[in-house]
Amino acid sequence: MFTTSPTRVMVLTCSTRPGSLGPAIADWFTTTVSPLAARLGARLQPLSLAELALPFLDEEEHPSSGIYRRPHTKRWSELVDAVDGFIVVTPEYNYGMPAPLKNALDYLGKEWAWKPMGFISYGNTSAGTRSVQHTKEVATTLRLVPLGATVALRIHDAIVDGRVRRSPRHDAAAEGVLREAVRVSRALRPLREALGQDDAEGPVPGSHTRVMTPDDAGEVTVLQRCCWVDEALDNDSLALAPLRESVDDVARWLSQWRTTGLWRDGRLIAMVRVRHEGRTGRIGRLAVAPDMRGVGIGRRLLRRAEADLAAECDRVELSTGAKSTRNIALYRSEGFVIDTEEDGVVHLGKALTRDLPTEPAPPVG
Ligand SMILES: Cc1cc2nc3c(=O)[nH]c(=O)nc-3n(C[C@H](O)[C@H](O)[C@H](O)COP(=O)(O)O)c2cc1C
Repeated sequence: MFTTSPTRVMVLTCSTRPGSLGPAIADWFTTTVSPLAARLGARLQPLSLAELALPFLDEEEHPSSGIYRRPHTKRWSELVDAVDGFIVVTPEYNYGMPAPLKNALDYLGKEWAWKPMGFISYGNTSAGTRSVQHTKEVATTLRLVPLGATVALRIHDAIVDGRVRRSPRHDAAAEGVLREAVRVSRALRPLREALGQDDAEGPVPGSHTRVMTPDDAGEVTVLQRCCWVDEALDNDSLALAPLRESVDDVARWLSQWRTTGLWRDGRLIAMVRVRHEGRTGRIGRLAVAPDMRGVGIGRRLLRRAEADLAAECDRVELSTGAKSTRNIALYRSEGFVIDTEEDGVVHLGKALTRDLPTEPAPPVG
């Protein structure tokens, strides 16, 4: 059964000292919260800075450039990029965070941005809380979002024979950290998605486009069901695939079509899909949420679909209901011509013109 994409949470053990307490505490945390993670749709990804073995920062360029030369930086970048949030298991060293954690943070830039960071700290009298305060100050510079929920273990009380003593209070606090990490991560997703997008000046300010994957099937199903109600009313028929497809059906076709979604603030507000059959391009499922119509979004996505097909196709085709007058008017105004009409569906087509390379000027003389 298809579900929405899991929230991937890195559980990062930060001390690198042989014999450190860190691995036992990280192990306690992941074991305690694993059942909750499954219920929340979160995937825990344990990682230890001792195993990662980053040297002291040795890149020439500033991390904000994203230009990395060393293999260990590229690997670290991929690992951080691939998750949606962090839970840091950290000791306190001399009233601050351990140096390997600061070094690991300094290595990267945008990979950290708009992801939550929760803390499982441990230490003597302060239970590692000064280390957490120190880390929060650095983390916010990187656009990490520190969480309020926390676990702070005082070694003398909480650790017995090198392992965390089970206590309902600590177990509940651990679950609280994960719960908050997942909620904040989901709330921050629109900010992460908008990172690096240069599409902000489209017909809807603050929106951006991206190619969708089967993970987007939930949002696509909602958008198409809502949009094709108008089609059903106009054409007096409920026998329309976009109204009837399940989330699994949508996930399947998302893997077969190149589908572009227009997003704003985490909401899918429009989409279009394309694929080519030989030299003919098919455009379909052009949809704009009902409250976002009339500002040129459909026309813009249609042009983008044609542009996506232009390299491989001489012609593009699409279909719509015979009584969908607004759709037909849009397609005609963009140069489409009705080819055929059958069973209440009109099929339209358009030749794609390509800018041909200019002929070299004939030699003079
Ligand atoms: C270099 C160093 C500095 C420490 N500084 C503090 C400190 O400032 N506050 C504290 O509560 N404990 C401090 N401790 C004690 C640690 O909390 C304790 O040794 C803990 O087990 C360290 O974590 P680790 O075993 O994962 O390295 C320090 C330990 C080390 C090795």
